[in-house]
Amino acid sequence: MNPPPFLIVAIDGGAASGKSSTARILAERFHLLHADTGSYYRALTAELIHRGVKATNPGAVRAELTDLKFGTQIVGHSADLKIHDDKVREADIRSPEVNSAVSHFAALPEVRSALLAYQRGLAEEARRHGFRGLVMEGRDIGSVIFPKADFRFFLHADPDARVRRRALEGQADAVAERDRLDSSRAASPFTCPVGAISIDSTHLPLTEVVERISRLLTSRLLSK
Ligand code: CDP
Repeated sequence: MNPPPFLIVAIDGGAASGKSSTARILAERFHLLHADTGSYYRALTAELIHRGVKATNPGAVRAELTDLKFGTQIVGHSADLKIHDDKVREADIRSPEVNSAVSHFAALPEVRSALLAYQRGLAEEARRHGFRGLVMEGRDIGSVIFPKADFRFFLHADPDARVRRRALEGQADAVAERDRLDSSRAASPFTCPVGAISIDSTHLPLTEVVERISRLLTSRLLSK
């Protein structure tokens, strides 16, 4: 019998659409490596702020980026970004300052291309570590990073429902404003990738979103 295929699962979605929780559960259930690319953009933003660089000065951003070295630390199923061997601290990347700056940095083509090869390279990293695949979530995964992924999902929900979810997590976050900036930028704008499976989670509990996706992954794994 052939070994099961190595699966690449792309999940895109707006702020608080449930993509991180969904990806985390799928990673454990199917033994996939989980890449939360939003945390990579956040980590890079925190580092650039720390270095005193502003998103309004792309030249300075470019100069700092040439000096940055990325690495990965795998913790359980999660592929965490390390910058210069330093593990990124959660508190640093979820701060109000990063919440309001991240979309401005993420709109810069130099920032996006600094992360592109790193993100694609995680598929190989997953294979090397014996995972059965990679589940990557973000804003441009099914459209730009892995347009040929085995599965591409797009999660969305009513903006009010998403603001409520963030508030329940104890975070003040301008969800609608980030969505607007992310969707209107010229470089890899946030969009539902053509051909992706779209799931509206406004009235669906997380467990149901996960079940819907799991059924599709299971049938693919069993059909090979
Ligand atoms: O807070 P939420 O989970 O919605 O966002 P996130 O996934 O942590 O991403 C934070 C920000 O990073 C987004 O608002 C985008 O500006 C940027 N991002 C991106 O541009 N492309 C990605 N693939 C992932 C995140």
